[in-house]
Amino acid sequence: MKVDREKPAGPASARPSAALKGAVAAPGDKSISHRALMFGALAEGETIVRGLLEGDDVLRTAAAMRALGAEVERDAAPDGPRWRVAGAPWRAPARPLYFGNAGTGCRLVMGAVAGQGVAAAFDGDASLRSRPMDRILAPLALMGATATSRDGRLPVEIEGGRKLRAIDYALPKASAQIKSAVLLAALGAQGETAVREPEPCRDHTERMLAAFGAQIAVEADETGGRIIRLAGGQQLRAATMHVPGDPSSAAFLVAAALVTPGSEVVVREVLVNPLRTGFYETLREMGADISFENERMAAGEPVADIRARHSMLSGVEVPARRAPSMIDEYPILAVVAAFAAGETRMPGVGELRVKESDRIAAVEAGLAANGVETASGPDWLRVRGRDGAVPGGGRVETRHDHRIAMSFLVMGLAARAAVEIDDAAMIATSFPNFFALMRSLGAAFDVAATA
Ligand code: S3P
Repeated sequence: MKVDREKPAGPASARPSAALKGAVAAPGDKSISHRALMFGALAEGETIVRGLLEGDDVLRTAAAMRALGAEVERDAAPDGPRWRVAGAPWRAPARPLYFGNAGTGCRLVMGAVAGQGVAAAFDGDASLRSRPMDRILAPLALMGATATSRDGRLPVEIEGGRKLRAIDYALPKASAQIKSAVLLAALGAQGETAVREPEPCRDHTERMLAAFGAQIAVEADETGGRIIRLAGGQQLRAATMHVPGDPSSAAFLVAAALVTPGSEVVVREVLVNPLRTGFYETLREMGADISFENERMAAGEPVADIRARHSMLSGVEVPARRAPSMIDEYPILAVVAAFAAGETRMPGVGELRVKESDRIAAVEAGLAANGVETASGPDWLRVRGRDGAVPGGGRVETRHDHRIAMSFLVMGLAARAAVEIDDAAMIATSFPNFFALMRSLGAAFDVAATA
């Protein structure tokens, strides 16, 4: 099926819909797409990437790689676009690298830039400017990088001309972005870097380093965490890869099927790396009828087709240790929880406060506007389920946050009354064909303006 890229700007609303039916492919995984471009730009030779997510966030990374010296080209092909990345020694970009809304792109490239010893300035939109960058700059400083920032936030400038030294670094939190930034810096550093993560979090950087020919060692520690070791000075070699579907985007399709009566939806070729599937595990515990079918390996990652049917759901307590494997899915989980019977408790989610928005506050405000009760603390959220009867009828402020926007549009499909969001524009950062795919399943949306 051909789906068009739609660029809505301004408000959108979702109306109570009939059963959702059909099979669709989720867009390419955002985390893997960013990394594929970065590793291609660092590698010797030509990297070919298929299935790249062509969302705004990833396109910013593509532009940054060009500005740093790589050749990045997109060829149209009958079976979908093909991206070619020819790596080259990195050079200082003429202008600041602008990352828009993209935390992953910005933070990982900071690590890589420091490791390559080139000077670069970094900036982003209002949301990205409000997010902490000191969590990246602190380990980079330990490695010998010099940077200036606006109080630990963007704009940031990294000085060039420094050879970094390896460190042994215990991550202060289970964050794949911090881990990846340190590993990317370590590639250009002198000596062997060790990164210790308290709990395993998404490991695409480790997998991709190996796929690009680096020697990397990963071992479990005695408390359930991991230690990753990478020697500096290794030259990456170009690779060919197919990006699997994004489980964090598939989550909206699956959630829509679970809460909309009569639905049955299949999302094809979704990444099911166990460090990304906590949301699906939680849904099963809530009583969701979902199955992983046709499980197989693609580009070194496990993938499956996910089938989801409308289900009667019950509230659960989500173990705090599961948070890293579903960190981006809490907003949509909170919406699903609103349709469940009983309370859903989400402890250990303080990181949600520093995502594209304060997602605990944004979710609570959105649920309250639609007749759902919540409670929260600095690092926890509770949702009182309405057992299938969510009033809806509210207007939700998305706060420049794509996942808040999509979560509440899903709510509107199955609530008693339509749900409106103030701005649908940010959806294009991670899921540019969201409206087209959802409509192909039968979702009823009113979108103000499309360009
Ligand atoms: C990402 C890591 C996560 C996640 C983000 C993507 C990545 O952030 O929220 O959307 O690709 O490494 P943290 O590492 O800050 O938890």
